[in-house]
Amino acid sequence: MRPVTFTLNGAPRAAFAAEGQNLLDFLRRGVGDLSPKYGCGQGSCGACTVIVDGETRLACLMPAEDAAGRRVETAAGLDPQGRHPLQEAFMEHFAAQCGYCTPGMLMAARALLDRNPRPSRDEVIEAISGNLCRCTGYEPIIAAILSAAEARA
Ligand code: FES
Ligand code: FES
Repeated sequence: MRPVTFTLNGAPRAAFAAEGQNLLDFLRRGVGDLSPKYGCGQGSCGACTVIVDGETRLACLMPAEDAAGRRVETAAGLDPQGRHPLQEAFMEHFAAQCGYCTPGMLMAARALLDRNPRPSRDEVIEAISGNLCRCTGYEPIIAAILSAAEARA
């Protein structure tokens, strides 16, 4: 076990990471942030998407120790009151059904809007291309992200 000190959703955190533990398991079991989801565990579904130093990362593929000294953001920190424009837009557009993909989708969308506040539809599709959703057919998600971008503008 090794101590990992990092910033989680703006707050300093420290926890022990086991040898070989990935960031997803570390966040969920070591830190108690259950918002990143385990889908495939091998980088194929995007359910575990988090933002590290402003860039999306698949937490299931990132060693926990690599988070040391870095800024990690998860869906749990989008807005403490649950009223982030993306969350509002997902609700308005019925962009979550089972909701399992939603935290990863939200983080992929958040990273997109941070670097490109007015994305095109194609840019939204590209941004969530690594995030699988079995329920919605993607259209409500795309509409929600475009709507959130418009609301923020
Ligand atoms: Fe990480 Fe599927 S759980 S990509
Ligand atoms: Fe069920 Fe996307 S809402 S997987």
